[in-house]
Amino acid sequence: MAGVFITLEGVEGSGKSTQLLRLSERLRHLGLPLVVSKEPGGTALGRELRRLLLEPHPGGESWAPEAELLLFYADRAQHLKDVIRPALEAGKVVLLDRFEDSTRAYQGASGVPEEALDALSTLVLQRLKPHLTLLLDLDPEASLQRVEVRNLALEDFNETRFDSAHLDFHRRVRARFLAIAEREPNRVAIIPAREGEDAVAAAIWARVAPLLRTAGFAVDVERAERGGHGGNAENAEEGIK
Ligand code: TYD
Repeated sequence: MAGVFITLEGVEGSGKSTQLLRLSERLRHLGLPLVVSKEPGGTALGRELRRLLLEPHPGGESWAPEAELLLFYADRAQHLKDVIRPALEAGKVVLLDRFEDSTRAYQGASGVPEEALDALSTLVLQRLKPHLTLLLDLDPEASLQRVEVRNLALEDFNETRFDSAHLDFHRRVRARFLAIAEREPNRVAIIPAREGEDAVAAAIWARVAPLLRTAGFAVDVERAERGGHGGNAENAEEGIK
């Protein structure tokens, strides 16, 4: 496959969305052929699944862990067929907000056994792996606090669940992400997300730029400098040519 496949992962409140936006703006300014998408909900059908998965059911029912797992993989299968594989085959850079590591971390933390994850992975991904996964790592206390502050600002009080069960779940999710990074150090880069936004963006660029260069994309400094936030500082630091 000719393109470059990059995923961003991490717990809620890790700054993932902000960094995804910064990185995608930067790649656009470089003029790279880019597809930015997310899971769940990267296709029209997938957005229906996203609603079923993430919006609270009016009757108060919640999904069985196995049902939830199948819905996340259904979303992924559609996304792979309609968006990810065609873009990679066309030689594009594909940048995703969450992918399979989220399933391994979240559904794994909800009690889905490893063999079930492996079986679905084999069926749906057929050995496709991202070239690079950026894991924004933050301790759950800090990440949930960020989420809480954001929700209070939005007056979205229903979403504030800063209780001990929630904290414990997030600890397990984080541990699973870190275990994946330990197993696959060549694919997964741990990016400490406690640093300021610019430092995190620079750390991300330090991993992305060499990959793009190796893939034959021109990561040229002139155009990047005209691009988004903090372009100058980051380029100067990394000496991107
Ligand atoms: P989203 O609103 O996209 O928020 P975030 O900014 O945290 O990505 O929510 C996605 C939620 O779905 C998030 O709580 C993680 C969860 N998720 C899973 O549990 N399994 C998965 O496979 C994926 C892709 C997401």
